[in-house]
Amino acid sequence: MAIVPVTAENIVRAADLIGAGGLVAFPTETVYGLGANALDADAVANIFDAKGRPSNNPLIVHVADAEAARDLVPQWPESASALAAEFWPGPLTIVLPKGYRIPDIVTGGGPTVALRVPAHRVALQLLHAADVPIAAPSANRSGEISPTTARHVLRSLGERVPIILDGGPTIAGIESTVIDLSGLYPRLLRPGPISLARLSEILGEIRVPSTAPPSGILPSPGMLSRHYAPRTFLESFDSPDRMMDREAELGRQGIALGILDLADRTPAQVEAGLYAAMHELDAGGYGRLLCLLPPDLPEWLAVRDRLLRASTPETAD
Ligand code: TXA
Ligand code: MG
Repeated sequence: MAIVPVTAENIVRAADLIGAGGLVAFPTETVYGLGANALDADAVANIFDAKGRPSNNPLIVHVADAEAARDLVPQWPESASALAAEFWPGPLTIVLPKGYRIPDIVTGGGPTVALRVPAHRVALQLLHAADVPIAAPSANRSGEISPTTARHVLRSLGERVPIILDGGPTIAGIESTVIDLSGLYPRLLRPGPISLARLSEILGEIRVPSTAPPSGILPSPGMLSRHYAPRTFLESFDSPDRMMDREAELGRQGIALGILDLADRTPAQVEAGLYAAMHELDAGGYGRLLCLLPPDLPEWLAVRDRLLRASTPETAD
């Protein structure tokens, strides 16, 4: 059995495996990560193999504290210091020009590296015991829903991971916010648990590259980068009326419908339970999944981002 409880002994085993170039799945406060020694190119290659991940998609490097992050980059700007002081350990990933110690395979061949200090006891214990930076994407096959429990990891990656440290369900539930500080202006690369508003308090203006489909146009499946997706086809709606019409239409065709219901919860509550709910619906034997999107407001940016990537959206018109 790959899933093991968190004990001092298993932390040491996991750290030894990292040191030997192997893979360990471990909990963070966002989602479970699939970790390898970030300074060992061969070890990192195992991550890409296990996930079936395209080699040009760079990985996040996890470190135990801000000082360890600083050691990996030639320059540590004031803005990074300020963000680290406010949000680390926590669900914020900072992208900066990379130093020579980071192998190219970690950064997808690019000139920048993504760094984060996770706010999870087990992740921090593993980082301290392994005593190396740990490159870790979410511990799922490429394109699938990110895991928020050890069982999700096992279901997606199976025997590809020798050790899955079971730290229980994760708290934040969706992946970290990614902010790029390598350019002239800060850019939000991925919305997440740390909101744009909170980042702006420290950074001022932040560029937000648009990933949403142009409103009023129904994109064909595949037009958006499909990601974080259940295996069962998921359709999302901005309009409750359109969703009801669609429910009736699919119902007449005898298709079993699963509804991803997000109503009456705060953004943080929805984020915390989103992937767990998607995993559960996916295992429920439905022919189709439907979801009413939360409103297009700043506080829902991260949830809408994940849902739009997981689904074929029908935008309001
Ligand atoms: O919460 C998280 O961030 C989780 C946990 C395990 O820490 N990790 C995670 O990793 O979500 P992954 O690989 O699934 O997502 C990493 C994201 C991708 O969108 C990737 O393109 C981006 O970070 N990224 C990594 N390095 C980058 C870089 N140098 N420049 C721009 N984007 C980068
Ligand atoms: Mg991922």
